[in-house]
Amino acid sequence: MSDQFPTYRAQMEYVCLGCGARHPIDELLYTCPSCGGVFLLEDTTFDKLKEHGGAYWRNLFDSRAATRNTALRGVFRFYELMAPVLEQEDILYLGEGNTPVVDGAPELQKKLNASFAFKNDGQNPSASFKDRGMACAYSYLRALVRKHGWDEVLTICASTGDTSAAAALYGAYVGHPIKTAVLLPQGKVTPQQLSQPLGSGATVLEVPGVFDDCMKVVEHLAEHYRVALLNSKNSWRILGQESYAYEVAQWFNWDLAGKVLFVPVGNAGNITAVMSGLLKMRRLGIISDLPRLFGVQSEHADPVWRYYSKPKAERVYNPVTVRPSVAQAAMIGNPVSFPRVKALVDAYEAAGGEFGVVQVTEQAIMDATILANRHGHIVCTQGGECLAGLLKAREEGRVAAGEKAVLDSTAHALKFAGFQNMYFTDTFPPEYGVAPDASLANRPSLVVDAAEKARLSAEEFTRAAAKAVAERLELAGK
Ligand code: F0G
Repeated sequence: MSDQFPTYRAQMEYVCLGCGARHPIDELLYTCPSCGGVFLLEDTTFDKLKEHGGAYWRNLFDSRAATRNTALRGVFRFYELMAPVLEQEDILYLGEGNTPVVDGAPELQKKLNASFAFKNDGQNPSASFKDRGMACAYSYLRALVRKHGWDEVLTICASTGDTSAAAALYGAYVGHPIKTAVLLPQGKVTPQQLSQPLGSGATVLEVPGVFDDCMKVVEHLAEHYRVALLNSKNSWRILGQESYAYEVAQWFNWDLAGKVLFVPVGNAGNITAVMSGLLKMRRLGIISDLPRLFGVQSEHADPVWRYYSKPKAERVYNPVTVRPSVAQAAMIGNPVSFPRVKALVDAYEAAGGEFGVVQVTEQAIMDATILANRHGHIVCTQGGECLAGLLKAREEGRVAAGEKAVLDSTAHALKFAGFQNMYFTDTFPPEYGVAPDASLANRPSLVVDAAEKARLSAEEFTRAAAKAVAERLELAGK
């Protein structure tokens, strides 16, 4: 039963959030041909899923957790809720999804007087949550390739480093007829992130500026050339990323009452997907309570916070000019998915859910990142941003000490090792506004230098090095 690929097939349509127009999914559309608005994909037969109660879906998804069918092993465990138009043969699986929820180290929770767990989305194949959406977008692309018999498809994306890593990885795995190109803001992705599309063999192109500049270029390309856009403007990405919400619910045994989710916001695709997934589960009775949901933004890139920090009647959306941020992957001044956030927040609130945005300082992000990792976590700076967001929300009285927070650590700590290094060596350029806590600095120390090693025999070297280590560690003899 759990290995069997589902027979349910939906009718899906692109729905424009600008003018409400609907478009068929037989071609890859990014924006509404009528008004330029962004889309969400809607299953117009969704009500059929309601013929089963919540318990049916919970049991089905639980039984699939043990499947050996790779088409259902990753994010498509939740096939019926995501993209139930894809055939088994088109589904791509590189081990994405099913990432661990790791409880905050007891010492750390106590120290911070907060209750939380990290969901380590950095434990995805390309070391970020982007793989969830990429598995779905590429599966749909494979379906199109099969249908049309295309012999060359060029994919492109703008990126702060993680979308490009994921796009290049999945593209390289699929191979012919897919070719991948990525457009990066020069010097604004980390060396580790840059190494990823290079290693996957993608064409890596750079422009001066920030992500928002790159996004405009790829939007122009998608409008005027035959190229498949893989940014989250592509709504198939959003569907795949909904799996994050399904996994959180499943982990907590489908009970999200009293939980608070924190998600870092950049281009706002992820928070869109999380809300959309939570709403679908609520509509089907898979969960009975919507968790409280907080977006987190750095004060150096905070257009969504600015919007939601105002009373409803005074809200006006304005893009911001970003400043350098340690949460560099989310350093975006004009999030493409902002209209989706607005629409979904309205739906979330109408369904009884609570949504808010927290703004945090660069210093708080960096301190929280270092602190978490010194307690055995593997959070990226965006994961640290979520912890900083929780602490800020606690300070502001928006979250109680006993409320359990689930913090989205969207990428692996290793991708952002450079910021840790700047913290340890106190070398942040002033624009970041980060003054490290010197007591946390950590660096390697050499116990025997090369000249000394050269002077010594192999045995003498071992003894000298062991003696130096023992002295450093103040080891007692036995
Ligand atoms: N965290 C990480 C590690 C990211 O890579 C991103 C976005 C975000 C958070 C913000 O998520 O954009 O969905 O609101 N990175 C994109 C990229 C923009 O190009 O890799 P979002």
